[in-house]
Amino acid sequence: MSQSKKRQLALNVFLLRYGHHPAGWLHPTWTENGRPDLQWWIRAAKIAEAAKFDTFFVADFIGRSGVIDKQSVKNPNNFHFEPFTLLSAIAAQTKDIGLVATVNTNFSDPYNVARQFTSLDHLSGGRAGWNVVSSLNPVTAKNFGIEAPITHEERYERASEFIQLTKALWDSWDDDAFDHPDRHSGQFYDPASGHPVDFKGEYFKSEGLLDFPRPIQGYPVFVQAGNSETGREFAAREAEMTYSSATSLDVAKAYYADVKSRMAKYGRDEDQLKITPGLNVVVAETDQEAQDKYGELQALVDFSELEFGGKDLSKYPLDGPL
Ligand SMILES: Cc1cc2nc3c(=O)[nH]c(=O)nc-3n(C[C@H](O)[C@H](O)[C@H](O)COP(=O)(O)O)c2cc1C
Repeated sequence: MSQSKKRQLALNVFLLRYGHHPAGWLHPTWTENGRPDLQWWIRAAKIAEAAKFDTFFVADFIGRSGVIDKQSVKNPNNFHFEPFTLLSAIAAQTKDIGLVATVNTNFSDPYNVARQFTSLDHLSGGRAGWNVVSSLNPVTAKNFGIEAPITHEERYERASEFIQLTKALWDSWDDDAFDHPDRHSGQFYDPASGHPVDFKGEYFKSEGLLDFPRPIQGYPVFVQAGNSETGREFAAREAEMTYSSATSLDVAKAYYADVKSRMAKYGRDEDQLKITPGLNVVVAETDQEAQDKYGELQALVDFSELEFGGKDLSKYPLDGPL
């Protein structure tokens, strides 16, 4: 008999309301206005669920619409629903699909985030996932009044401590703490089922208990998408799923081998992490129609005012080195 384990692909859907292609909303087939549309999201989540996708991911580039400049006026994806609110609505309309919310650990507080995830997990019957991000956009930093730059290393340290504290808060109640309200004694819960937190870290402090039962899953499913050295190490230690953006099969294989090889030192088995490389698709009835559609989208991209991080790149050749 074969000793090999049964392996199964994990499929995640990552939608942006206006498409991943920068010219998606400029295509003549796009005829809607720019108002938020809950029904669009619910319909998409239901389609993904019917198609047996494992997870429905809501990205969050918090605050990126905080300035009006040449680039921001071109990008409708800077405007998006806050993930917990959106996924709570989707939770009520779906049954099986995992619901992954992005939370940036630079702009949130662990106690609030612990409550939000346990609420989403209970609302959805144990389907919550957390895409942990620690990116720091200067525009967003200004939105939050953050003046001193936070180094890349520090952001990941803060994210690790953030997770440590949220886990401690979720662990502050036993799984069954609220399963046996005792009308006889008048005790809604057994005091022994609560475990107050006393956390003093470098970035966060917290004392006390979470004000809601532990998530059904214990913790939400941890997802991560960092690609740097620190990001890969973080994924190996914390993540159960990573979003990677490989540009070729070789790059994808190297990433896979590298991240998985870092797990053992954290006492983790390689099977505890699913790697889901991104795949951008253009859908049409036939191959040719899909190619044509892609060509139309590419032709709609305006390369005349290209910039990155405030730097004008328009004078560089498009396919040449920077
Ligand atoms: C598929 C995918 C989805 C991502 N989603 C988000 C997101 O929703 N919000 C965000 O701030 N960053 C997002 N990122 C960026 C990553 O969290 C991370 O900042 C980036 O990959 C750089 O990682 P590094 O700092 O380790 O190099 C995403 C990256 C990928 C590949």
